[in-house]
Amino acid sequence: MQHVDLLLTNIGQLLTMESTGPKAGKEMQQLEMIEDAVLAIANGKVAFIGEKGSEQHFKAKKTIDCQSKLVTPGLVDPHTHVVFGGSREHEMALKQQGVPYLDILKQGGGILSTVEKTREASEDQLVEKARFHLDRMLSYGVTTAEVKSGYGLNGETELKQLRVAKKLRESHPIDLVSTFLGAHAIPKEHKETPQVFLEEMLTLLDQIKEEQLAEFVDIFTETGVFTVEQSRSYLSAAQAKGFGLKIHADEIDPLGGTELAADLKAISADHLVGASDEGIKKLAQSGTIAVLLPGTTFYLGKDTFARARKMMEEGVTVALATDFNPGSCPTENIQLIMTFAALKLKMTPEEIWNAMTVNAAFAIGRGEKAGQLVVGRGADVVIWDAPNYMYLPYHYGVNHVNTVIKNGCVVSK
Ligand code: NIG
Ligand code: FE
Repeated sequence: MQHVDLLLTNIGQLLTMESTGPKAGKEMQQLEMIEDAVLAIANGKVAFIGEKGSEQHFKAKKTIDCQSKLVTPGLVDPHTHVVFGGSREHEMALKQQGVPYLDILKQGGGILSTVEKTREASEDQLVEKARFHLDRMLSYGVTTAEVKSGYGLNGETELKQLRVAKKLRESHPIDLVSTFLGAHAIPKEHKETPQVFLEEMLTLLDQIKEEQLAEFVDIFTETGVFTVEQSRSYLSAAQAKGFGLKIHADEIDPLGGTELAADLKAISADHLVGASDEGIKKLAQSGTIAVLLPGTTFYLGKDTFARARKMMEEGVTVALATDFNPGSCPTENIQLIMTFAALKLKMTPEEIWNAMTVNAAFAIGRGEKAGQLVVGRGADVVIWDAPNYMYLPYHYGVNHVNTVIKNGCVVSK
């Protein structure tokens, strides 16, 4: 008889998602699953995974009868902007009038209006606000997430945002991975001098390293923001200092950020709505993970979505994320993104689960830690009020979480 802390019995479908690496292209059609399963947790880690009946070998402090429900690894959200001040509900009327996202930015709104609010907010205020959003993400089944800065656009506020993320990394149940996105927009004070601004952002990298404030550096490569050439030299400088790279690439206008991400062997290229055939081929070759954000395309009111099927046919590793932010995707609901992925990206349920667990974890350098249920790994587990894994993308707009378990502890119900 083995003593364990928590025993999950009577699991209908257990998605283990076990995989030695990220799943590229057609590999995403495979789903590692055990039907009628039992899972045991001890000392915060997965201690045993097996078939129904094996529960008799365990004596558990607590047992949860899963009543034939679906059980999966905690979801991984590999692209969020969760630390910010204020909100932007006033932009809805502009959207309804058809004012494009980049025009709102050009007029000093959009990202720049969130920058004002984020500069005004104290560190404590930002911690509390972000904690509120993270709690909500957790309640939707996310146990690991990336978080970007990018609403400071000056040294003081960028560092403030990253310190807020660090505080939350140390205190919130969600495991957080930080990305420095100082190059998110051109601040008003540098309207005519974007190059000077980028250089200013690069001077922060040593301190960011020293204080362990971020692992990745990201840039918004877009019309009216940063060019491909500016992005290349900026990201190369960050890479030389030992940072992993991410890019907001080809989100609105197809500039060639996808090719740049592949050239620089970025860990991920994100958005990719306008990625070219050539860019997609290059991603497959470089192993750069395509992080697709269909919630953003939906919220920007576009009809054309990222070509997920083409990417997977070409052998690209695809991950999915919310892009949670106050402007282009104000939702923490990653389950809603499953439905967008199904209907707008034409991804199958198997591909969606791989994209939100294994591949999402690899997209933020946590492939060895998160996104899979494997004996010996941290027990980040979600019990869903769903009879099978296909149910989540299908029944949309509501929260299907029954219980979220982080490192073996029940953290959300
Ligand atoms: O990923 N595109 C740039 N950044 C975010 C939006 C940020 C905002 O509008 O506040 C994005 O869509
Ligand atoms: Fe983003």
